[in-house]
Amino acid sequence: MKAQNTMKLTIESLSINEGFARSVICAFAAQLDPTIDVLSDIRTALSEAVTNCVVHAYKNGTGAVYITAALYPDGRIRIKVRDKGCGIEDLQKAMEPLFTTADGERAGLGFAVMQSLMDKVTVRSKPGSGTTVTLEKRIGSTHEG
Ligand SMILES: Nc1ncnc2c1ncn2[C@@H]1O[C@H](COP(=O)(O)OP(=O)(O)O)[C@@H](O)[C@H]1O
Ligand SMILES: [Mg+2]
Repeated sequence: MKAQNTMKLTIESLSINEGFARSVICAFAAQLDPTIDVLSDIRTALSEAVTNCVVHAYKNGTGAVYITAALYPDGRIRIKVRDKGCGIEDLQKAMEPLFTTADGERAGLGFAVMQSLMDKVTVRSKPGSGTTVTLEKRIGSTHEG
C-alpha cells in the first residue's frame, strides 16, 4: 500500500534529542486522529528505540539516528529508527525480555515494551554496520482495512 504521507528526521544520538524526536513523531501521527492512549504507546515505543541508539549503538560516542515515518490510508503508521552503530551480535537473544548488555544500568525490557505497545516490531541488524527497528501500529479509525 502506498503511503499517504511521509517524513524524515535525522538527529544526533544525544539524550536531549529524544524528547524532540518523540514530539515530532507524535505531531506527525496526530494527522490520523489517534486516541491519547495510542499516541502514548507510540511515544513510549519510539522512545525505547531511540534510547537504544543513544545507549547501545554509539556507546563510545555519538552518531546519527535516522527516523522516518509513513502514514497509510488504512490508518497505519510505520516508523523506522536506524543507526550506523555497533549492531547486534545475537538478535534473538537481544530481543528476549530481561536480556541486556548494560548490566546494572538497564532493565533489558526495551524490545519487550516496543512489542507490547505496537502491532508489529521488526529488527534488522548487522554487527559493525548498524541496526534498523521498524515499528507499526494501526492508529486511525477512519478507513476500513
Ligand atoms: N540500536 C542498537 N544497537 C546496538 N545494540 C542494541 C541496539 N538496540 C538494542 N541493542 C542490544 O539489545 C539489548 C536489549 O535491548 P533492550 O531490550 O532495549 O534492553 P536494554 O536497552 O535495557 O538493554 C541491549 O542491551 C543491546 O545489547
Ligand atoms: Mg533499551
